[in-house]
Amino acid sequence: MIRNSLKINLKEPPLIKRKIKHSHIKRFYENHLTNGYMHPAQWFRDPEKWYRIHTFNNPYNIGRPNAELALIIESKEKIKNDIRDMPIVFWGVGKSDTEMELVNLQLEKNSERAHLIAVDVNYRFVRDFANALKDITKERDEVEIYFLGIQSLFENIAPPQLNCFNRRPKMHICLGNAIGNYEDIRDVLKIFRRNVKIGNRLMVGIQTDNMIQAIVRRYSGNKYLENMIKSSLYPSNRALLKSEAMEWKYNESKGQIEAWVGGIQLFRSKKFNPNRFEKIMSGYGFRIIKQYADKFTTCIQIYEHI
Ligand SMILES: C[S@@+](CC[C@H](N)C(=O)[O-])C[C@H]1O[C@@H](n2cnc3c(N)ncnc32)[C@H](O)[C@@H]1O
Repeated sequence: MIRNSLKINLKEPPLIKRKIKHSHIKRFYENHLTNGYMHPAQWFRDPEKWYRIHTFNNPYNIGRPNAELALIIESKEKIKNDIRDMPIVFWGVGKSDTEMELVNLQLEKNSERAHLIAVDVNYRFVRDFANALKDITKERDEVEIYFLGIQSLFENIAPPQLNCFNRRPKMHICLGNAIGNYEDIRDVLKIFRRNVKIGNRLMVGIQTDNMIQAIVRRYSGNKYLENMIKSSLYPSNRALLKSEAMEWKYNESKGQIEAWVGGIQLFRSKKFNPNRFEKIMSGYGFRIIKQYADKFTTCIQIYEHI
């Protein structure tokens, strides 16, 4: 039985809890900037800028458009069984194309029922995801979607906030290499270690370091990314930048592509060797149970917290 009345209802707005004050988030971002680097959540301040980066202008899509979505679709029979009827917690929904496909797979596998939590710093992403879910319920009467949206930084989430849908094991999902956007990978893995209960699963979408030179060329000087990054700065912070030109480089020791302006690291994206990433994850108590990868740079791994 579902304790909460979270069912997506066509007449009422979906349940979205706003957990974040504008002043809090502004301070959070500013603290990072004064420490010399920008926090990844800040890049998504304006959804339109992120919606603009898609198919081939997103360097995440090496080899084919919508690479992660394509990988999910071609592995769908297996992924459907991985997800089964587990309630899903999405860490970041953004454009939500891949996330919606996973919802579809769960509906197919679980007699048209899905139990979903979506966490994102940006209210509009959560709201647009909820509206897309509503649209599925318009297609088919028999669909039942139970949903809780949470506008929050991942950093501010604690297990009690994810405690709905009884005590069934959950599938936590973080796609689009969002993990690779952290300067210190430990910061995000600590969040998962705290919030993914023992016995629950975590699916992560990472970009591999296969074809690294091609990836570096694809990121360097990408005007869509530069536009998104710069415009996500608060006007008061723009004065921190000493020069306007953005400099791109590959930091080999950290395995990350970086963009710098005037001594501030405004952007980074780590690229992973899947085997090495598996070892890092095992240090946080996560054991790999599945991996899906294409022949380019897209990789999805599923872990169990043991
Ligand atoms: C790279 S996108 C991945 C989501 C989706 N698959 C996509 O491609 O749009 C990262 C998403 O996570 C959110 N996000 C990133 N860091 C966050 C943080 N620390 N707290 C909350 N949300 C965050 C962003 O707002 C964005 O929607």
